[in-house]
Amino acid sequence: MQIKINNKKYEVEEGETVLDVCRREGIRIPTLCAFEGLPREAVCRLCLVEITLTDKLVTSCTLKVCEKLEVTTESERIEKARRINLELLWADHAGKCATCKRNRMCELQKLAEEYKIENFHFVPRKGEITSSEELNLTKDNWSRVVVENENPCVSRNSEFCVECRRCINICPEKKFGFNHRAGDVVVGTPYGEVLDCGFCGECVRACPVAALTDQNDFSKIIESLDDIKKMAVAVVDAGMEEKISKQFSKMDRREKLEDILSKLGFEKIINISEKDAEDEVIKKIKTDYARKEKINPEDIVVFFISSKISKKAEKGKYLNYVLSEREVVRLVRDKKII
Ligand code: FES
Repeated sequence: MQIKINNKKYEVEEGETVLDVCRREGIRIPTLCAFEGLPREAVCRLCLVEITLTDKLVTSCTLKVCEKLEVTTESERIEKARRINLELLWADHAGKCATCKRNRMCELQKLAEEYKIENFHFVPRKGEITSSEELNLTKDNWSRVVVENENPCVSRNSEFCVECRRCINICPEKKFGFNHRAGDVVVGTPYGEVLDCGFCGECVRACPVAALTDQNDFSKIIESLDDIKKMAVAVVDAGMEEKISKQFSKMDRREKLEDILSKLGFEKIINISEKDAEDEVIKKIKTDYARKEKINPEDIVVFFISSKISKKAEKGKYLNYVLSEREVVRLVRDKKII
C-alpha cells in the first residue's frame, strides 16, 4: 500500500502507524509518550499531524495507515497545537532544570528548547496572583508530590512526572499505576508503598524526565573521585562502552570510554566480559590487588559501571558504588569533561 506524507508517496505495511513510517523515513515528529516496544496511549499529544480524511488534528503514534491516506506533518496549525501541549507539560518543570538530575539528558527539556518554550501561558507570572493564592497553589502541588528515596536503586520524584505511562507499561512486575483520581492523579506504587522489586532498571531507562532516576549520592561520588588519597577503580561491565556512547551527542562520541573515565578520576579501569564472574573480579580488587600493590583496601573506592542497577543494593565491603550509563554521562556533564 502507498500513502502520501507531505505530498510524497511512501510504501507502507498494513498495521503500521504514521509515526512508524515517519521514523523509518526520517521525517521528524516530536514525541514524548511513544516509546519503542510499548503500547501507544496518545497521552502527550505532541505527535499531532493533519490528514485529509478529517478536519481534526490526529495523533500520528496511534494513526494506522490506510488507503488514500494523505498526511501533513508540519503546518502553522500543527505547530501551534504542539506548542500548547508542550507548554502544558513544561509548566511544572520551568525553572527547575539547573538542579535537576536529568539536566541536559531530559527529553522534555530538549523539546522545550526545540520549540523555544519561553512564554509560560499556563504559569502565573509575578503580580498575576496574590501571595496567599501562590502559597495555596504551592501547598496544593506539594500535597500530591511523592518523593521516595528509601529503596536502594531507584529514586522517585513525582514532581517531574509527565504521566506518559512509560513506566506503567514497561515494568515487568507491574509496580506502577495511577493513584488518586482526576486532577489529583499521580503515578506511583500501590498504596504509595516503597518501591520493592527486582530493580531491572527498565523504568529508569524509559522515564523521559527526572521522575525516576538512578539512586546514588553524587556529592559523595564526586568527593571520592577528587580525593587524591583514594584510588578510584572502575569495573566496566560488558557492552557499557556502546550504551554510554549512545547517551552522548554525535560530537562527543569520538572520545573513548577509558579516556573519559580517566578524566573523571579513575586510576584503574578493568573491563569485564559476559563470561567473567563480576562479583569475583570486584572482590579481588580490595583483596588480591590491594595486597599485591601494598595499598590499604580502605583507600580503594570500587565502582561497578553497569546497567544492572539492582547491584546498587549489594554495595558494601567490596563494592562502593554502581554507576549506570546515565550516571556516567551525568558525571561527565557535571565535571565538564566533554
Ligand atoms: S507520542 Fe503520540 S501522543 Fe505522545
